[in-house]
Amino acid sequence: MAVHATSLAALTRDAGILFGADFNPEQWSRATWHEDVHLMRAAGVNLVTVGVFSWSRYEPQEGRIDLEWMGEVLDLLADASIGVDLATPTASPPPWLGHRYPSTLPVTRDGVRLGYGSRSHFSPASAIYREHCRRIARAVVERFADHPAVRMWHIGNELGQVCFGDEAAIAFRRWLRARYGTLDGLNEAWATAVWSQAYGDWQEVLPPRAAPYLHNPSQELDFRRFSSDLLLELFAEQKAIVRELDPVRPVTTNLMGFFADADYRSWAGELDIIADDAYPDPADPHGPVDAALTQDLMRSLAGGDPWMLMEQATSAVSWRMHNLVKSPARSRLESLQAVARGCDAVCFFQWRQARSGPERFHSAMLPLSGADTDVHRGVRRLGADLARLRPVVGARVPANVALVWDWPSWWAGTQEALPSDRLDPLATLRAWYRPLWRAGVTVDVVASTGDLSPYRAVLVPSLAVMGTEQAANLESYTRGGGRVVLGPFSGIADTHAHLHVGRFPVLLRAVVGVSGEEWVPLPDEGSSITWSDGRVSRVETFGERLRADGARTLATFGPGPLEGCVAVSEHDVGGGTAWYVGTVLPPEALATLLEQITPTGTATRVSAPKGIEVVVRGGALFLLNHSRGPLRVPVRHLLLAVPRVDEARGTVVDLLTDTRFGPMDEVVLEIDGAAVLMACDGNGHPTAELP
Ligand code: GLA
Repeated sequence: MAVHATSLAALTRDAGILFGADFNPEQWSRATWHEDVHLMRAAGVNLVTVGVFSWSRYEPQEGRIDLEWMGEVLDLLADASIGVDLATPTASPPPWLGHRYPSTLPVTRDGVRLGYGSRSHFSPASAIYREHCRRIARAVVERFADHPAVRMWHIGNELGQVCFGDEAAIAFRRWLRARYGTLDGLNEAWATAVWSQAYGDWQEVLPPRAAPYLHNPSQELDFRRFSSDLLLELFAEQKAIVRELDPVRPVTTNLMGFFADADYRSWAGELDIIADDAYPDPADPHGPVDAALTQDLMRSLAGGDPWMLMEQATSAVSWRMHNLVKSPARSRLESLQAVARGCDAVCFFQWRQARSGPERFHSAMLPLSGADTDVHRGVRRLGADLARLRPVVGARVPANVALVWDWPSWWAGTQEALPSDRLDPLATLRAWYRPLWRAGVTVDVVASTGDLSPYRAVLVPSLAVMGTEQAANLESYTRGGGRVVLGPFSGIADTHAHLHVGRFPVLLRAVVGVSGEEWVPLPDEGSSITWSDGRVSRVETFGERLRADGARTLATFGPGPLEGCVAVSEHDVGGGTAWYVGTVLPPEALATLLEQITPTGTATRVSAPKGIEVVVRGGALFLLNHSRGPLRVPVRHLLLAVPRVDEARGTVVDLLTDTRFGPMDEVVLEIDGAAVLMACDGNGHPTAELP
């Protein structure tokens, strides 16, 4: 298979799954560096991210740059055959920058200019900050582009800064001019006739700063688009410097899952590797399923290619109010879950636990108490496990159901002054994902304007913003034989956040065969709906005053403000079918509905006990035990899902342990245990084709 040089595959082809962490040598002595490299090797570490927070060490005073110490670090790592993801150090400018050039510091919505002494204290709109970023990035890349340790480049860190200051205002105006051309265009797009907001001069246009009352929703939506584009520009500017000096090695930055301040869909094409930071809360019972959704998002952003888990914690983080620890087994399971869902690089924050600074209580691969610790033994075990998973490296994760997710709809669905602030789009997305996860249905997370043709069903839990392009895409997919499900409060507004005029969902009314006239937040006691088979479900939060215009009614509202109205409907249109869900269904009812809608063959054909996550990746079947006790799974229940198992006469091997199982055996999964099964020959060698 041809491997693009500027990709993750180019790195994993020889190294296998990448395994490592952020490494912050500036916090430690040279003697410690040596010990670190020795212990990294022993743990199987093959990649470390360095230089993320090195700017003030590189350049303690403006213009006085010393990169030699980093040269020593890279030499040490190269000698140990540990690759480096080298960062541009722009996430935390040195104090002199903020001190000399206060305009580089970010300004909040309330007009407060933030100080330095922490990190991320920059405005992405600041010309001076950007100039210094280019200068230090160029110095670092020029110096190390040919260094043998460097495998890839990392721009900044968790880009997410939003600024409301004067330079941000100038950049916002520039962005708006490019989008609307004229002030008339802007006034129309922002509907400034409302509340006497019409602009007569570009200089009057501002970010949505703190104001006496509610903001203009169209302005808010554009400011979020602009802020996302501005951060991407910051990334692209530093990436261009890397490209100029190093035409080949991949460039990335670390994303933050479902992060609201950047539209990662529009970023994805600019990143050579999709890389994510993931910190599921061990206290959250939905943690594993929400993590899976984020991993599916990352894989989808990567176009189905492998992605990178750039950061996670081995045990506790230190930034929540009460930081639960994770067992080494739990941490291992979380990493294996990511691999199951397409990840080929498993990294942590950070290698050695800090003894100082705000993150001194954050776990690491090497705790302050040293290598003779459960956490570190867990790290070594994970390193060995990942080395065993070579047969899945580069493999794709098949998915034939899509969940639609657009950032502008997320933004529009979380604005001020909506019918209800309880209908959170991300919460809705997660609620719809949960029954699919439990049923072993792997999904891609796609744009409403994306190519839907590969999918047998497309679920649209929450899509407030629907322009003609989005509607046409969903319509043609449905008419062409697809199955589409639309959730409540979808298709309500155009891309400027102006409501569509007419019975809703205006642009898809003919497709869904129902129409609505009023959004109806439900009283706290909720309401009930009755299904056509007589079942009754409690519903809560939100409903819609809908009537059937050709669709079959699947459920009708009971007593309350929506009595007699359609709650859930089904409509055949063209060769396909469209469902409409006009309320917030309880988990069981949603699960039943989605099970009926997702066609047979979309779920992994496995009857595994509850609590076991089942994912097929390439030729391997991953079984991940998230339940609170050990579970046994008869191999014969799994066989339909193991690729090429017929030729292997039902014999499978667990890549993690080399244990061979026949069809009459059982796989025992301990708490937080996992198995990765592949069809194998009589000698236990996997028979599936390697990618
Ligand atoms: C983020 C950052 C890291 C570190 C971790 C701690 O992901 O990128 O620098 O602060 O959080 O969890």
